[in-house]
Amino acid sequence: MDEADAEIIGLTINGRPLSLRVQASRSLLDVLRNDLGLKASRYGCGAGLCGACMVLLEGHAVPACDTPMWATAGKQVVTVEGLGDEDDPHPVQRAFIDEQAAQCGYCTSGMMIAAVALLRRCPHPTEAEIRAGLERNLCRCGTHPRVTRAVARAAQATQTPQADADCAGKNVDRPADAAGGGA
Ligand code: FES
Ligand code: FES
Repeated sequence: MDEADAEIIGLTINGRPLSLRVQASRSLLDVLRNDLGLKASRYGCGAGLCGACMVLLEGHAVPACDTPMWATAGKQVVTVEGLGDEDDPHPVQRAFIDEQAAQCGYCTSGMMIAAVALLRRCPHPTEAEIRAGLERNLCRCGTHPRVTRAVARAAQATQTPQADADCAGKNVDRPADAAGGGA
């Protein structure tokens, strides 16, 4: 890293407030994986197109590879490590296990993050809404049918009321686009 370009960026990752000295143009994915050791978010395309790197930023699914650090300042980031753990899995993690919704697993973290974002907006999605919600998540192993079943199972398990649902909304944001710049 060129120390001259580094700045302090404050953000919260998986509930932990952090002040990181980083170049603001570095991607969130690079910092998560290489500085913080949070390796569940995967590097696939590096261009915001495959969904392998998805994380929640302020509760919205975003591709971390396409999210510059400057766009995370003061924000809440949740990676799949922050959803739950072996002893207390998130309902989406539990449902992915129950439906055996992974093969090689490379896409799975991103799929789970997209599913969590979808179920927050739309607690009881139809199959078509699940497919639309996960359309930005690619899987080379062809697990989509099992993933769709897992998301439906998680929706059933959480029993959140459907009031105020936004089932037709966009499920994935691109912070760099929204802020008019980026790395
Ligand atoms: S690595 Fe493909 S969307 Fe980020
Ligand atoms: S399980 Fe292999 S890429 Fe999805």
